[in-house]
Amino acid sequence: MQFEFIIVNPQAEKYVALIQLNRPKELNALNLQLMGELRDALKELDNNDEVRAIIITGNEKAFAAGADIKQMADKTAIDMMNVDQFSTWDQIKKTKKPIIAAVSGFALGGGCELMMHCDMIVASESARIGQPEIKIGVMPGAGGTQRLTRAVGKALAMEIVLTGKFITADEALRAGLINKVVPNEMYLKEAFSLAKQVVDKSPVAIKLAKESVLAAFNTSLDEGLIFERKNFYLCFASEDQKEGMKAFLEKRAASFTGK
Ligand code: CAA
Repeated sequence: MQFEFIIVNPQAEKYVALIQLNRPKELNALNLQLMGELRDALKELDNNDEVRAIIITGNEKAFAAGADIKQMADKTAIDMMNVDQFSTWDQIKKTKKPIIAAVSGFALGGGCELMMHCDMIVASESARIGQPEIKIGVMPGAGGTQRLTRAVGKALAMEIVLTGKFITADEALRAGLINKVVPNEMYLKEAFSLAKQVVDKSPVAIKLAKESVLAAFNTSLDEGLIFERKNFYLCFASEDQKEGMKAFLEKRAASFTGK
């Protein structure tokens, strides 16, 4: 898969694909082309049976410093509506396989929102996370007010969104926004290690479990429980369920095929 602003390796490790955002001079600012490429890559990786988890990363200095301000500066509201830049983001939401963000440096604005679209987040100690749109006369537009608030609660979300302040990786960890903080040289390694713990499980159960956890954000408890129960029952249609339970009873490691 050849792109201009992202580098994609579908088999960075067995069953683990790596997408690296690659506009280093612009701190990986998310222009329309980059987001289109990300959409296309995710779609392809989601349909690739050799891929069971996807890592999205940037570089040491920046995961992504937000949507591309140069591309938006002169736009009118109608231009923005017609370009509909966030429609490309829907693919991230639709991706069935787990996505892990490996974050170092700046994860700001759209960069923070991209990070929050991912299912798990590993950050380096140097990560600086925020929604600074307020400083340039706008506000988050790719889920920042919603996903951040659900993750860290109203008080901290208001502070981050209304002041534009950055928080450290440790603060993000304490607030429940991210999964892990590791030394700077370890963040990608740690993301692969987390991915490894996912890809040896049943791909069918992993997809259904991811879908069920995400459903918790859109449903009442009772609706969510019904949704969960149906997905639980659906696992029993898979060969992986038979293999997983048989392997447990035979005291051996299971070998899952995704069937
Ligand atoms: N869009 C376009 N270009 C950007 C950018 C962005 N979001 N962030 C950084 N860059 C560019 C800079 O313009 C600069 O380019 P030039 O060398 O051509 O001038 C280059 O990247 C390096 O940036 P700085 O010189 O500013 O680097 P720094 O280390 O001094 O500061 C920073 C780093 C604090 C991240 C600063 O660049 C910054 O504040 N960036 C903007 C962050 C921001 O406001 N993000 C939100 C964007 S709006 C949004 O995301 C809307 C949404 O909800 C989707």
